[in-house]
Amino acid sequence: MSVFAYRGERLFVEDVALVDIVSAVGSPCYIYSRRALTEAYQAFREALGAQRGLICYAVKANGNLALLAILADLGAGFDIVSQGELERVLAAGGDPKRVVFSGVGKTEGEMRRALEVGIRCFNVESMAELARLDAIACALHVRAPVSLRVNPDVDAKTHPYIATGLKENKFGIPLGEAVACYREQACYAHLSFVGMDCHIGSQLTDLGPFADALDRILPEFAGLRRAGVALTHVDVGGGLGVRYRDEQPPTVAAYVALLKDRLAAHGLSDQELVLEPGRALVASAGVLATRVEYIKETEARRFAIVDAGMNDLIRPALYGAWQGVTAACRRLGPVREYDIVGPVCESADVFGRGRRLAIEPGDILAIGEAGAYGFAMSSQYNARPRAAEVLVDGTEFHVVRRRETYEDLMRGECVVRAGGRS
Ligand code: LLP
Repeated sequence: MSVFAYRGERLFVEDVALVDIVSAVGSPCYIYSRRALTEAYQAFREALGAQRGLICYAVKANGNLALLAILADLGAGFDIVSQGELERVLAAGGDPKRVVFSGVGKTEGEMRRALEVGIRCFNVESMAELARLDAIACALHVRAPVSLRVNPDVDAKTHPYIATGLKENKFGIPLGEAVACYREQACYAHLSFVGMDCHIGSQLTDLGPFADALDRILPEFAGLRRAGVALTHVDVGGGLGVRYRDEQPPTVAAYVALLKDRLAAHGLSDQELVLEPGRALVASAGVLATRVEYIKETEARRFAIVDAGMNDLIRPALYGAWQGVTAACRRLGPVREYDIVGPVCESADVFGRGRRLAIEPGDILAIGEAGAYGFAMSSQYNARPRAAEVLVDGTEFHVVRRRETYEDLMRGECVVRAGGRS
């Protein structure tokens, strides 16, 4: 059963009424469930069974320290794309030996720091990056562990902004080029090639593209092994979708079974499987709570104007994404259709159109599946302090990131008057 469920008229998060959290913490706020996150992680762990595997949570989905610490305690690894994410993982007690570093634009400083703390692997995305990493490892007198991110050129059948596995995307190295590089690795004295990586996109609701990608890269992996190139892990990236509305994504069990099946089909069951799930771990563990400020009826539409905006949750505005909106307290009174909109001065500042709700000004709404790419993509646009984040744990809740203040908004800035006096 979902940890977000009505008891009587009130929506609960685990054993706490959502409205009680908002009364204490204010609105808007992100609310996460420890239990939902834990169960999502365990579903991956159980699905792996006897398969050697490392679940590297994609920190970009939600980098809150409290969530990272929960996952670190459960034994998770982490997939990072910046030094900032690395520092977050370390601050949360994550083990650098379980960190893989993805991303097309790693800087020298980022590589140096990752080598100094001894991460598990760099997922390298170009020959230029490989040369840079080799030089930095040389200067530091270490060998950098490397996995090449190959671009398998498959259609992930997802929103074009989050498809990454087509040859016109900026991601990865063409398969043929990557294979040649593995074979000629001797020219990189300070690298050790330990794995092969791919990530084809996000919010995939069909297993087909995952199977296609693996069936392209695994024969090459097996061929390299026969040729004496001793790789030890296959990193399949992230991308498993969740249900926002009526999608029917595969279960974690079916997804992992497919991965194991493809490994077995290519004689690679003994390889370690590295996974980089983001959304599938955290999306359904969080909601965004927001208060209805006004109801505004025009000739054309009826709007519920809420106190969260596209700066707090940009997915609907950016991708046209659909996310559920429910009332935290059910009312008897008339159900009407509302466009749920924020206060930001952009017409894209819409969370949902034509939503059927019984609401009044002052009511609290919960926007669902907001644990992934919600707070993480939030900004201060329109000079709006970022929302608080709360973790629910049974009957208790904790503020795990305080609401930003107006001082936070202006931190680090200064005024320069004519003549340079500050
Ligand atoms: N690994 C790599 C290399 C990635 O680029 C990503 C996501 C993941 C793993 C995790 O993917 P997931 O399991 O979460 O699908 N902001 C967009 C999603 C962007 C995904 C970017 N890369 C959204 O809100 O839909």
